Amino acid sequence: MNKYVAGISLLLVLLAGCSDKQEQKNLQQLPLDLASGKEIALKSCSSCHGMDGRGVKDNIPNLAAQVEAYLLKVVQTYDHGKRSGSSGSSMDITKDLKPAQLRNVLGYYASLPPLKKLEETSSAYSYFDRGEQLSKPCASCHGIDGNPKEAGVPHLAGQHPQYIVKATRAYQDGTRTMPTMHEKLTNLSLADIENIAIYFGMNKAKPHASKVANPYEGKQFTYNCNKCHGSMGSSEDVSIPNLAGQDVEYLNKMIKAYRDKVREHSTMHQLIGEFKDNEIAKIAEYFASEQPMQVSFVPPEPIPTLAQKCDICHNLGGTNPEMLAPKLKGQNRTYLINALSVYRDGDRGNSAMHRMSSILYFDATIEGIATYYSAQVAE
Ligand code: HEC
Ligand code: HEC
Ligand code: HEC
Ligand code: HEC
Repeated sequence: MNKYVAGISLLLVLLAGCSDKQEQKNLQQLPLDLASGKEIALKSCSSCHGMDGRGVKDNIPNLAAQVEAYLLKVVQTYDHGKRSGSSGSSMDITKDLKPAQLRNVLGYYASLPPLKKLEETSSAYSYFDRGEQLSKPCASCHGIDGNPKEAGVPHLAGQHPQYIVKATRAYQDGTRTMPTMHEKLTNLSLADIENIAIYFGMNKAKPHASKVANPYEGKQFTYNCNKCHGSMGSSEDVSIPNLAGQDVEYLNKMIKAYRDKVREHSTMHQLIGEFKDNEIAKIAEYFASEQPMQVSFVPPEPIPTLAQKCDICHNLGGTNPEMLAPKLKGQNRTYLINALSVYRDGDRGNSAMHRMSSILYFDATIEGIATYYSAQVAE
């Protein structure tokens, strides 16, 4: 076990409520009556978890063949209100059960054979490939690789992915006026946008050649721009766009939009207020003619590599009583996405490990790992 995981595990153990574990042990010591468990399942649980342990609809977890000790432990978290929220409250029903009944019904579900796959789905998930796929509707204007052919359309190739995400979100939530052709953006989820941004941003920028004799004339006006947009228009701050190599007409239009207060940008761009049209044209020429630096963005690690880290705990099958992690293979995809999102956002208690994990920073990572596990054959 590597140091990182060992450290985290220790923390997890320290922070996890001891009472849940004690109650889990108490439950496990009760005698198991599978027939009675089946009856309770039929009466109280099957409307949601099925008799075969398959969640009857999205976002209801499969329970079949799940690690028994995990089920006995996790059910306490509903009772203790540590796991709640919109979907957690459907589990209030377990509070009315006596310990012996809980033990039997959970023992019943754990004893069921692993579920067969209902449909063949792929576990493959690549941010870049998905981004390429999702960016097809953008290509007619922004170019297949994010380098547009037509003037006036911004380059997205070589732009910071984080900025592309921010800009797209700003169109979606209305803080930035959506050009009419951007209506397609409204249907994109955050994970979709992240994938598109990774795809475009990591493609090489191919700026258009400058048409003016001396593009450097505008440099004299850019002294104040440098501290944010970088010394030659390649910004180091991932939330500030690169201007180097950007389309000259687009730059011209945007600088004017700031000056004329058409594009909202609080105080930062006030100094643009003093520039005349011909000066702005020169600034645009200058930035457009600069060769942008390759963005420093490091893409999140490939999903299968990430899954190896999860498996350190999740493949134990209940053999380590201090690390009662559930099986993830074949679990419902939507349920996995929601569970991981609430861990990340801190709304689901009892798992210090998942809350802290910066690896789940991207919605696309959560979507990717859920796709990966849900497509595996349950064991
Ligand atoms: C109304 C629908 C509904 C009923 C009835 C129901 N559940 Fe659930 N159950 C859910 C949902 C939804 C979740 C996921 C909650 C969440 O997001 O935390 C869940 C989660 C669970 C979990 C946690 C699984 C995991 O992988 O972490 C267990 C264990 C469980 N249910 C057992 C039961 C048992 C036993 C019964 C019957 C006594 C039962 N449930 C009845 C909807 C239901
Ligand atoms: C019909 C042409 C068209 C299509 C299709 C289109 N865009 Fe755009 N996009 C533009 C234009 C033009 C602008 C400049 C908008 C302005 O002037 O405010 C722009 C601006 C942007 C910006 C802001 C760039 C910056 O530097 O601030 C982002 C991000 C963006 N588009 C993403 C997308 C994505 C993602 C798609 C596909 C889902 C897409 N666009 C599809 C024409 C298009
Ligand atoms: C204090 C920091 C700061 C300074 C100084 C600054 N900018 Fe910006 N600029 C930003 C940020 C942040 C954005 C992105 C705004 C957004 O998200 O909509 C931006 C956006 C832009 C854009 C739009 C780019 C695009 O892709 O849509 C242009 C053009 C621009 N700035 C030009 C300039 C020029 C020219 C100067 C100097 C005269 C300047 N900026 C000075 C922070 C700054
Ligand atoms: C240090 C051990 C450890 C690591 C590493 C770990 N987990 Fe977990 N995970 C757990 C434990 C323990 C639980 C049960 C938490 C509880 O009791 O509520 C859990 C619960 C979960 C659940 C909830 C499942 C359910 O049925 O409700 C999901 C989803 C999950 N982990 C996904 C992941 C993913 C994805 C990774 C890798 C990015 C990961 N975990 C890495 C220990 C770990």
